[in-house]
Amino acid sequence: MLTTRFLNDQLRETLSKRRSENGFELADVLRSGTENPDSNIGAYAGDASCYEVFSELFDQVIEAYHGYTPDQQHYEQFEPLAADSVGKLNLADPRIISTRIRVGRNIKDYPFPPSISHASRLTLEAKIATILNQLTVDQKGRYYSLSQMSDSEQRELTEQHYLFKKGDRFLESAGVNRDWPSGRGIFYTAEKKFLVWVNEEDHLRIISMQQGGAIATVYERLRQAVLTIGAELPFARNNRLGYLCSCPTNLGTAMRASVHIKLPRLGQSEELANICKSLNLSVRGIHGEHSESKDDIWDISNTQRLGISEIEVIKTLFQGVKSLLQEEDR
Ligand code: ARG
Repeated sequence: MLTTRFLNDQLRETLSKRRSENGFELADVLRSGTENPDSNIGAYAGDASCYEVFSELFDQVIEAYHGYTPDQQHYEQFEPLAADSVGKLNLADPRIISTRIRVGRNIKDYPFPPSISHASRLTLEAKIATILNQLTVDQKGRYYSLSQMSDSEQRELTEQHYLFKKGDRFLESAGVNRDWPSGRGIFYTAEKKFLVWVNEEDHLRIISMQQGGAIATVYERLRQAVLTIGAELPFARNNRLGYLCSCPTNLGTAMRASVHIKLPRLGQSEELANICKSLNLSVRGIHGEHSESKDDIWDISNTQRLGISEIEVIKTLFQGVKSLLQEEDR
């Protein structure tokens, strides 16, 4: 776990005297890792100020995960793809089952999900729902509050990879699941190619996805939606760390670009994890984080999100997928 690697007695002593703007303490930051010793990271921010107030800890975690040092500057490049690269980035290999790109966003001046109050979460949900229901990016869609959905509706959306899972133990310990399901929900369009999770790990998870390997198409849909939403809702951000998320792995672009890909040969080999690592990719099972693979299908995504631009994230995925397919053929 990265937090325990970096926390010595002296740092613990220093940081335990501090409080974030919304009253988050070191013990709150660390609770998820303390209660889940199998955590990889083990820390969550309760609000934007945590990254400054506990910077001596977070900066080391950030450097270990993203390879990003405190003197670096994050740069945003969430721009249209060059016309000549669009065709190239839309991959047509039948082994690519689907493509999904998401960004995490929190709303400026609101505590993050680990520490937001019940009342503020509800205020924020109402505000976000109004904006989403007016969106005309892609198709029109609708916001559904979790408290108004039946268990079977929720289960079905989760199994089809549209909705977040209930009761994640890492988030539970981080305080993210308080008052569940109140104030959480999902927005989606008719074909479910554009979706927004509301008040899960971050206030917003803005998602574009579809069958096949059309990375450029999925990216462009996401880009336009994020631009429109951002014009209505100011996001929590700073120049050094980019978009501020509850988990330090999601800082910067907060972008996770992924494919579900069928790798019958590589998937059987011990090598898959190492190859992905060398390509700066993470590998997961198909039901998301901490899940298993099924039918030789793997979820492959960029590991680094900070100190890399949005366009570079897309290119990392594209190059990585191409290399994996070559390796599979070999
Ligand atoms: N807190 C968990 C850990 O440290 C998950 C970290 C990354 N995933 C995430 N959803 N933020 O292992």
